[in-house]
Amino acid sequence: MSSPRPAPKSFHVKSFGCQMNVYDGARMAELMQAEGMVEAGADDADLVLLNTCHIREKAAEKVYSDIGRLAKRAGGKPMIAVAGCVAQAEGAEIPKRAKAVDLVVGPQAYHRLPGLIADAVAGRPAVDTDMPAASKFDALPARRGGAPSAFLTVQEGCDKFCTYCVVPYTRGAEVSRPWAAVMDEAKALVDGGTREITLLGQNVNAWTAEDETGRAQGLDGLIRALDRLPGLERIRYMTSHPNDMADGLIAAHGDVASLMPFLHLPVQSGSDRILKAMNRAHDLASYLRLIDRVRAVRPDIAVSGDYIVGFPGETDAEFEETLAAIREVGHAQAYSFKYSPRPGTPAATMDDQIAPQVMDERLQRLQALIGDQQLAFNRATIGRTCDILIERKGKQPGQMLGKSPWLQSVLIDGGEIGDLVEVEIVAAGPQSMHGERQRRAAA
Ligand code: 5AD
Ligand code: SF4
Repeated sequence: MSSPRPAPKSFHVKSFGCQMNVYDGARMAELMQAEGMVEAGADDADLVLLNTCHIREKAAEKVYSDIGRLAKRAGGKPMIAVAGCVAQAEGAEIPKRAKAVDLVVGPQAYHRLPGLIADAVAGRPAVDTDMPAASKFDALPARRGGAPSAFLTVQEGCDKFCTYCVVPYTRGAEVSRPWAAVMDEAKALVDGGTREITLLGQNVNAWTAEDETGRAQGLDGLIRALDRLPGLERIRYMTSHPNDMADGLIAAHGDVASLMPFLHLPVQSGSDRILKAMNRAHDLASYLRLIDRVRAVRPDIAVSGDYIVGFPGETDAEFEETLAAIREVGHAQAYSFKYSPRPGTPAATMDDQIAPQVMDERLQRLQALIGDQQLAFNRATIGRTCDILIERKGKQPGQMLGKSPWLQSVLIDGGEIGDLVEVEIVAAGPQSMHGERQRRAAA
């Protein structure tokens, strides 16, 4: 690592990958602000922190091209920190491969950033990929709300060991944050002006903790308690695993008004043989039953999912089973990926890895189907009246962008960030919708 240098006064965080990284990025930014550093752009910050994703090879490799660019930045190379799951997976190998990197910090150790920055300033090695028993959350500065919609990580890690997935290795074992910690953070966000909270976890619906009376609660209990928090208008959660979809959580979709009608519940494949090879521990029929049960209590629910095409050994017929499953579910949206072999995972060494052009073709067909479903779902909301929560300005002058209960982006004229406004959906495209403000009778 490099020789002594001035301490950074400004920072920039760039997050890749999932919402949990977005959350971690926000908390790292708050930590550096608490240390007296100010936020700046990637082109002029003294410290650039790349908060990385290791889920697929492409995501993991992106960081090295970013490091290369930063190393040659006009106006001088910043201090470069690599955080997130690539940091966890590759650790001290990173500064060996990319000499421009000054600091490496894993997702469970980022509360130690101030000390690591001091090490890097002094020219000492600064690599920390510990998974300390004491939670980083206790060491971070208290949360400040402000954004209309905020993420709140309640659960981290995964014990499911799907055979393709690095998460159990990079994020560690499943851990739920305690009841009081979550409630306090939610209150701090709402006190600061946040009106919508999305509870996050790799397996968020496996969250469990004792409430203030010592009673064991699941995610549904937490959602019901948050529903009673004055000022919190909307609750969402992701990502869920089918095997942790408890009866109480399904019921909550029917009777908790602030729980938004959106469910991200990945099935990954429509083939039972592939699901078994993936170690998913559920079959397609049980997944479809869950969707039916949620729809029985909340018929308008928007169902989202994740699909992997080209898992080792996937035949044409098995891929067709996935398309058939998607047709049966009817998604409001879904994410889809080409299988990417990840180091250390069982699937990476399985026979019958699928050729890239076969994966490309399957992905195209699957994405076309999901695109059709997304458009159909969006069109079906035309004529509906709903509240949207305004999150930011739109591209046109005077236009604002908000989210519908079904997590669609809705453009309207006028309004302020943080407003919940009643609109009628008047037009729908694949990615966004247009809404017209409803004039209240008294107005
Ligand atoms: N290759 C492709 N997609 C993957 N995912 C996880 N691991 C891999 C992999 N090795 C997908 C799954 C998961 C989502 C977050 O990323 O669909 O639900
Ligand atoms: Fe990865 Fe499976 Fe855990 Fe999801 S449930 S994080 S896909 S191992």
